[in-house]
Amino acid sequence: MTSTKEVLRQSLTMVHGCPMVSAFANNWERIEQFRSRPDDIVIATYPKAGTTWVSEIVDMVLNDGDVEKCKRDFINVKVPMLEMAVPGLRTSGIEQLEKNPSPRLVKTHLPVDLLPKSFWENNCKMIYMARNAKDVAVSFYHFDLMNNLEPFPGTWEEYLEKFMTGNVSYGSWFNHVKNWWEKKEEHPILFLYYEDMKENPKEEIKKIMKFLEKNLNEDILHKIIHHTSFEMMKDNPLVNYTHLPTEVMDHSKSPFMRKGIVGDWKNHFTVAQNEKFDVIYKKEMSGTALQFRT
Ligand code: A3P
Repeated sequence: MTSTKEVLRQSLTMVHGCPMVSAFANNWERIEQFRSRPDDIVIATYPKAGTTWVSEIVDMVLNDGDVEKCKRDFINVKVPMLEMAVPGLRTSGIEQLEKNPSPRLVKTHLPVDLLPKSFWENNCKMIYMARNAKDVAVSFYHFDLMNNLEPFPGTWEEYLEKFMTGNVSYGSWFNHVKNWWEKKEEHPILFLYYEDMKENPKEEIKKIMKFLEKNLNEDILHKIIHHTSFEMMKDNPLVNYTHLPTEVMDHSKSPFMRKGIVGDWKNHFTVAQNEKFDVIYKKEMSGTALQFRT
């Protein structure tokens, strides 16, 4: 495949049992053979869990809250997405990572077992941000309406069925969060929740600072909270993805920075959908200590 057009609205491609955005699935060896650096910091999430938000926060923490430094480039350049590759569009995630100075920030949505083994061998630090499944489903549906690299989501009803059975890019939300949660027993992974970040950004950013061994004062902490608030990020063209061609992301269908709240699922799930979801949720999440707030 050589042009962007050819990869738009394609069906997902299976990669080692995981449904993958078709454009990213090409030449998967490039991911498997990726060479990490020991000081790489991985930011891992299931899509729509607040990846962009936590990425900007981590960049600010590493740059001591210096807003000007954080404006040095677009979010996808500062925090490249490992698996991202779109023919004819721009630098792939790996090409960008190879250019970036250490310590590099590496964004990925990969399930734990698809992460290149080099990250485990180098014992790289990882930050995993999780968000409750119902809000993720709503956010992902709107994202698939505007992001032409994804298959067309269909109606909300049709999409929710696909989400519940893991028939969406990166597969089952349930497996993703459970497997990353378990992995933290044997690896330095800071596990965060979108809902906690929303409720008390100060405490959550402090956790990030501690994990990254940064000691920043209260003034800087407040600057980070302000700069990374939803209102600020929504209007910041360096992080709101409006710089991508409309052919790829069409913000007129739904903006990337959509609502940024907890509980929007209540505006979308019918009572019947909610009941069905709860049954599946209970089954899938039995036997894990993971607890989400909705
Ligand atoms: P909604 O669609 O619910 O609004 P990701 O970056 O993983 O793709 O996640 C995108 C989701 O995070 C979107 O959710 C987006 O609005 C939300 N988001 C982005 N920046 C945010 C911020 N600063 N505060 C709260 N939510 C934010």
